[in-house]
Amino acid sequence: MSATAIASVRAREILDSRGDPTVAVDLELAGGARATAMVPSGASTGAHEAVELRDGDGKRYRGKGVLTAVRNVERTIAPAVRGKDASDQRSIDRLLIELDGTPNKAKLGANAILGVSLACARAAAAASGTPLYRYLGKGATLPVPLMNVLNGGKHATDSADMQEYMLAPVGAPTFAEAIRMGSEIFHALKDVLHDKGMNTGVGDEGGFAPSGLGTNEQPLELILTAIARAGYRPGEDCALALDPAATELFSGGRYTLAREKRSLDARAMTDLYAEWTKRYPIVSIEDGLAEDDWAGWRHLTTTLGARIQLVGDDLFVTNVERIERGIREKCANAILIKVNQIGTVSESIDAIEAGRRAGYASVISHRSGETEDTTIADLAVGLDTGQIKTGSLSRSERIAKYNRLMQIERELGSAARYPGRAAFAR
Ligand code: PGA
Ligand code: ZN
Repeated sequence: MSATAIASVRAREILDSRGDPTVAVDLELAGGARATAMVPSGASTGAHEAVELRDGDGKRYRGKGVLTAVRNVERTIAPAVRGKDASDQRSIDRLLIELDGTPNKAKLGANAILGVSLACARAAAAASGTPLYRYLGKGATLPVPLMNVLNGGKHATDSADMQEYMLAPVGAPTFAEAIRMGSEIFHALKDVLHDKGMNTGVGDEGGFAPSGLGTNEQPLELILTAIARAGYRPGEDCALALDPAATELFSGGRYTLAREKRSLDARAMTDLYAEWTKRYPIVSIEDGLAEDDWAGWRHLTTTLGARIQLVGDDLFVTNVERIERGIREKCANAILIKVNQIGTVSESIDAIEAGRRAGYASVISHRSGETEDTTIADLAVGLDTGQIKTGSLSRSERIAKYNRLMQIERELGSAARYPGRAAFAR
């Protein structure tokens, strides 16, 4: 047996950053290389994502247990992949897809499948004696971090209607300096909120989640104040990015902004974003409209797509078929890449490539439910995406990815490149 043949695959139920169960996979190769992968989990999930299998038995972990997915790894996947070559990621992933046999990984669960796919990549990299980012590609570009410093929507209680207000440190010279900028602004934002008598507790992704906001625009003002207070120039040193997660606001053809007691149609939402981009240094808006509002997306892209990045998250769910429809219909100009939306490493790479062929940028992303697993940091560099979204400047499940990227930047030494504003060039 070759050193990279899969010798054993075990799975475990662990907890994610919200204290809910998720899947961990421990994989060992014949040559002794080992790897563990932990699967993330979303809250504002897209309807078209691959299926996250939960036990649903009502009592254990409030129905959120993942023992079925764990059993699927150990009883169905493990015997099928044993002896197969972990360094042939495409064949492993194809086998996982065939074993499941459904279009959305509903039988074995995308959480079971992804755990094995990720662990396989990590173990093969370990066997080759190279870090995962180098095993995956030749990239030496650190990603611009989109740092979610103010959490709303489904990731917080009683904060903004819109889900994410992010810092984009476009003027930093290096990744480590981008992180320093983010941290200093994050702490300045805490002071700004405190001075206004607003609460400084954090939401699911480690960003502040103040109650008592009057509008969904107010966080933009608060963050601009914090950028200046930390000694940076808004727009030049640090720009802004948004993820309204508009699918969560959408019902009956309209988008409800509960905090402002009004609802808007897709055209009025586009007008609102257009106005904001004139007043604030916004370089990227993700899920500005809902996952199946293709006509709205077309109008949004025609209106703003030449000036700013428009990212499809729930719209595309890292799925090549949906990305190709978006390209055909001129919807969005960038893709969010979440490995658990599609369920394998190979399909995530295919999604990035499908976008790249049409000039769509890719942003590698965490989920709101995360673990200490840092694989996405290596993916961002190895797959050369130039952008990552992995939360705020607090909470170690977020910081672990930033720490890993700073380590990669040091390892790359003088070869390391930080794209800054060029990552958003249109
Ligand atoms: P989720 O949110 O992980 O809760 O789906 C993240 C996002 O919408 O980008
Ligand atoms: Zn999103």
